[in-house]
Amino acid sequence: MIEEDLSYLSLSNVPGPFDPRGVISVATMMGLNELEDLEDEMDLRERWKVYTKAKDSAEDKVKSRRLENASWRLWSMERVRGGDLNKDLSEGVMLRALGESESREASSVDVNSKVNDNGNNLESLNLDMSHVPRGKERPPSPLLIPGQRIVSKETKKTVSPKGSPKKRGSAGNYDIVHVDDPTEVTNWQKLDPDVIGKNTQLLEFADQGTGDYRSPSFQVRYEDGSTLSPVYYFRHRILKGKSSMPEFFPNIYLTNLSEATTLVLELHDFVTGLVVELHYTVMHDYNAICRHVVFINNGDSSVSLQRVMSSTVDFDTDEYFLTQLSGSWARERQVVQTRLLDGITAFQRFVYAISILVRYEVDDCHSGRGASSHQHNPFAIISSGTPNEEHGAAFGFSLLYSGNFQLEAEISETGRLRVNLGINPQGFAWNLEPGESFCSPECVLVFSDEGIGGISRELHRLFCEHLIPQRWRNFVPPVLINTWEAVYFNISHEVVIELASKAKELGIELIVLDDGWFGHRNDTTSSLGDWYPNLQKLPYGLAGLSKEIHSMGLQFGLWFEPEMVSRDSELYSLHPDWCLHIPARGKTVGRNQLVLDFSRSVVRDYIFSQLSNILSSCPIEYIKWDMNRHLTEVFSQDWPASRQGEIAHRYVLGVYELLGRITNAFPHIIFETCSGGGGRFDAGMLYFAPQIWASDNTDAVSRIYIQYGTTLAYPICCIGSHVSTVPNHQTLRSTSMKTRSLVAMCGTFGYELDPRQLSEDEKGEIAAYIQLYKRLAHLIRKGNLYRLWNPFLSSSAAWMFVNNDASQALVFAFNIRREVGRLLPRLLLRGLCYETVYEVEELCPGKLVRNIDTGAIMLDPRGVYQYGENKKLLLSGRTLCCAGLPVKFLFDADSVLFELKAVTSALSLSSF
Ligand code: GLA
Repeated sequence: MIEEDLSYLSLSNVPGPFDPRGVISVATMMGLNELEDLEDEMDLRERWKVYTKAKDSAEDKVKSRRLENASWRLWSMERVRGGDLNKDLSEGVMLRALGESESREASSVDVNSKVNDNGNNLESLNLDMSHVPRGKERPPSPLLIPGQRIVSKETKKTVSPKGSPKKRGSAGNYDIVHVDDPTEVTNWQKLDPDVIGKNTQLLEFADQGTGDYRSPSFQVRYEDGSTLSPVYYFRHRILKGKSSMPEFFPNIYLTNLSEATTLVLELHDFVTGLVVELHYTVMHDYNAICRHVVFINNGDSSVSLQRVMSSTVDFDTDEYFLTQLSGSWARERQVVQTRLLDGITAFQRFVYAISILVRYEVDDCHSGRGASSHQHNPFAIISSGTPNEEHGAAFGFSLLYSGNFQLEAEISETGRLRVNLGINPQGFAWNLEPGESFCSPECVLVFSDEGIGGISRELHRLFCEHLIPQRWRNFVPPVLINTWEAVYFNISHEVVIELASKAKELGIELIVLDDGWFGHRNDTTSSLGDWYPNLQKLPYGLAGLSKEIHSMGLQFGLWFEPEMVSRDSELYSLHPDWCLHIPARGKTVGRNQLVLDFSRSVVRDYIFSQLSNILSSCPIEYIKWDMNRHLTEVFSQDWPASRQGEIAHRYVLGVYELLGRITNAFPHIIFETCSGGGGRFDAGMLYFAPQIWASDNTDAVSRIYIQYGTTLAYPICCIGSHVSTVPNHQTLRSTSMKTRSLVAMCGTFGYELDPRQLSEDEKGEIAAYIQLYKRLAHLIRKGNLYRLWNPFLSSSAAWMFVNNDASQALVFAFNIRREVGRLLPRLLLRGLCYETVYEVEELCPGKLVRNIDTGAIMLDPRGVYQYGENKKLLLSGRTLCCAGLPVKFLFDADSVLFELKAVTSALSLSSF
């Protein structure tokens, strides 16, 4: 690792006339140059450099791109700061931090307290590197002049002329030494922090009201009505592994401490005692950093947190684009790309359904949908320059959270970009009593110099290996059939058994009994909350049904909507106060149902016992956990007035708790979450369940868009996708069995149709596609995804899966609405080894062909191939990637699937 003086980066901090000065910024306080000289610590420090600065990258361009970004260059601050740290910590500055007139004693910070590792169960290296000088340990107070620097007495290491590495001793044991070579005093030092206000700096975490006019990372309100809370670096610690989060908080988990290193920066408001911990976990084998924030009230009066961002990232000036996933019910996660202009571009779930993308000054909308929503997804990519699938620097942000969130991208007047991601502040207020703490959701930041595709592959790998429950990491789910689109509410024991036996003949392995099996539910008006079987429909109960299904050699799955209650239900008549509502006001229904108050443990405990009774009553291998409306009247009977701003967040934590308890209690059951289709498709849910139903829209063409967009953030293996009947129930569109099957294969693969209605031909096709899926599933689920044709930018879509050593690949391509007579571009493949020869075989040929003389459509029993029957191409990876495959589509919604197998190295090509 080359030691570099990165102080030049600060030269872009140009003061402006309206930039308030005089209070030092958080960033300038966050120097890391007081590390102990511990052997292990040095090892960790080296790792931080590697994983934050130069991983996988020999190119300076990439390096500097990463360094430009504050989060990604934390470790480099050690150098940026240089000797300036000592200046920042001089007495004058400290007094300013204390508010000039206050004495040091007024600070409620216990300056002698040692940091513990936040109760985490990971090995702490016990690096108490507090270097905020205090008491006798305070270094000399006068500001240093160029040529002077404070170094440790212990190490007595002075600065070498060329600025070679300087180890520092323990805090508070300082000498001023003369720097031999004045050129070593960097430009940074000439830029007095007093001259540069916060507003023009790249910050890690920004307060409001003390000079930074951009959107802040957090906001508080104290009992005296004041809202200022500048926080300053106090100390930091470095942990092997990861700091633990509260139980049932979704987070990137480790299987081994050596997989990550965590930096915890502790910031203090020296006046009020508010402590902010910024947690950064660098995943060693990924270009990823996990961030979360913990607020601790060490003061003696309560403080209300009004805004908590899990992550703030300030970028230096560039031309930036935002990629987001937005949509609606049945049209989820469409790719939306916007060039960022001055001001704030934000997306979030408002209570108002129409807020797609807004630029706003200040908005006082309140509340939210309570779920991550169909409308927006807690995920975004920032690209510098026009977004590109394969090239260029891209920064991915994913919030592991299923409730109200907000992502803001603000271009300030200097042209710099700030990205904030966290809980939606609208309607949020968390009361922090003395001694209490608050942990934000975790946010994952991913960097790629391979454009948007690189971000996706990195997130897929991370989510598959460190987010989805470990027990589901390598499984291939059984091919299932769901009763919903087959018979909707018209279920009965006989019907389910009929569907099951027909499904079994096709090779289907599991049948899911969807809505309508419980209470007296025949439509959406009743019975949610009454989780016992309707014995009129199921006279042998669930146990009888499950037994018969299992005796047929099938597995059994069940639908639940645990968070809801119907007004026409026993649960509601017993506990009308158990739903979210404000007494004396109306209760807004959605799909005829109300939302249970999951902020209350009594409610969660009741539902837990209902679910666990059912799940223990007979063999059940799969649960679909639905949530079919969003929150309104977010108010709880159980909590005091001062805590009503917490309810939306407590609701989500309650859902997590119940999901965690039930999945722990029944670890063998596959859970698929769902919310009116894909209305809660987020990384928070994946922490508990390995798959999520992507959309209520099962039309193959619509699904191409939905699934393509979903893959920007989420791995194929978690995307719930089924083959449904034609004409499709949502669009009335008819597509071939081939196209429906190929689209559904790029997901969990199942069926959502009535197998009693199938023709013999269709049955044969389905049986063949199930066999094919079984053979290809591993590569589809575990392969690296390369998106080739973007349906949002063209009239066709294509993507491919490549295994890790690039010896096998699958290429899927779909026509959407190409005009007749218009040719397609050649399909350029990706991810292959240039020097390898691949055998390219087309699988599952088409059936229909056009007579070119008459134009008549004819059935071709031999199959319609791209390059002729039984014709396999032998082509090098270079040719496949650079010249590509010509693809012909004859009809709308036509599709093609190629299988590639490495045959030999390109040198031997001539021998074929
Ligand atoms: C939601 C789901 C559907 C189905 C229905 C049942 O809409 O997305 O798949 O389960 O609920 O009511």
